[in-house]
Amino acid sequence: MKRWIVRAQNTPLKGAVRTQGDKSIGHRAVILGAIAEGASRVRGLSRGEDNACTRRAFERMGVRIEDSEDGAVVIHGVGLDGLRAADGPIDCGNSGTTMRLLAGLLAGQPFGSTLIGDGSLSRRPMGRVCKPLRSRGAKIDGQFVAEKNDECAPLVIRAMPKDLGLSELEYSSEVASAQVKSALLFSGLYASGATTISEPVLSRDHTERMLSAMGAPIRAMGPAVHFDPEGWDHRLNPLDFTVPADPSSAMFVLVAGALIEGSRVGARGVCINRTRTGALDVLRDMGCATLWSPKGDEGGEPVADLFVSEKSGRLRSGARVGGETAVRAIDEVPALVAAAASVAQVSEFRDLRELRVKESDRIEALAKVLRAFGREVDVLPDGLVFEGGPLRPTWVESQGDHRIAMAAALMALVARAEPAYGSVQGATVIEDTECVATSFPGFVTVLRGLGADIVEEELS
Ligand code: S3P
Repeated sequence: MKRWIVRAQNTPLKGAVRTQGDKSIGHRAVILGAIAEGASRVRGLSRGEDNACTRRAFERMGVRIEDSEDGAVVIHGVGLDGLRAADGPIDCGNSGTTMRLLAGLLAGQPFGSTLIGDGSLSRRPMGRVCKPLRSRGAKIDGQFVAEKNDECAPLVIRAMPKDLGLSELEYSSEVASAQVKSALLFSGLYASGATTISEPVLSRDHTERMLSAMGAPIRAMGPAVHFDPEGWDHRLNPLDFTVPADPSSAMFVLVAGALIEGSRVGARGVCINRTRTGALDVLRDMGCATLWSPKGDEGGEPVADLFVSEKSGRLRSGARVGGETAVRAIDEVPALVAAAASVAQVSEFRDLRELRVKESDRIEALAKVLRAFGREVDVLPDGLVFEGGPLRPTWVESQGDHRIAMAAALMALVARAEPAYGSVQGATVIEDTECVATSFPGFVTVLRGLGADIVEEELS
């Protein structure tokens, strides 16, 4: 068991860091690299556990993946029809993206597969991918969990005989979900007809961009995407690019800078795809505008260095998240709640029902953390409303969720009120932090490098 001890910060944070490669883009690079024709070179792939799960899954399905000396990961693609059955269930760990994207890709294979995950992943809804996949002929079943009223892992996918195959699909998704969209597009690579998907709001579009860069016949317009394999040679060109840094991780660094007066912190090489920048808009509306230094494109994704300094302005208004911004900031809500917690204004986080089915129920988890730091919170079915103000050093648990642990660390940096029971000599204790390795291994080192007083302890 690991835990962090974090003290309130009295000196500005300084420095620029490059966070791990974007997790979403990394999953897609491994998956599409594995079924491309020839070797893909992917630099900057995240060393986090989530991307590692996807990598291991393809190694078990016969794809050779090597770490080259220059730090690139070389994926020896086997072509669309070159995968073979793994010798047992595929463990997706804590990664919902791995499970849902693989469900789509494996639904059209001539061999069967079983997908399993850890305790948290086994409670997450899978009906959202299984149902539309079945509607195009896939033989995929989860386990019905009455308490969730949904299908959950393990997912059992039966072989798709060549003479049957998946059919075309026209699907209007109720939720804006890039995982659902990507699973259906991946199944479309193995279908005889076209795949057309529309969603209420455009979710992250990394799959569309990557498939297009690899030569697949895909067209996207607003929140709709159309993939038609008619006349296509069923060959994906290999990838050669650097995964931009993960904006969801960079956000924790930028918010830390925004919270501590006089700081100058930078996050380098960050993916600024518009489907991912909602949190930067929210931060700007709270009074702190990040400064952007554009760096061009990587693998079809726009990239910039982002800075927070005195010139950015201070956080002075509450956070407002809702509507389209809720989709564009979905993974950054924990960081935004941390940004808002100490601002003496009302903050409203709405249209975030999806947060209830992430690595934890993030609405309840964030409410619990805010209360531990001494704030009162109204919990809504789809969000949170609270008034920010002084925070007290306290004792909290990550609740098994990497982003809850990191959000708590940011709140601890500004927790100066009378300590709550469980704090250690005026510092905040955050328990159960190993989960942070899924997305941001090195978080503690990065924060310490910027000058934060955070210590990691290993408990036996
Ligand atoms: C992801 C999509 C989002 C996001 C998740 C990663 C992806 O989930 O929250 O962290 O890589 O496709 P949903 O598709 O469930 O919205």
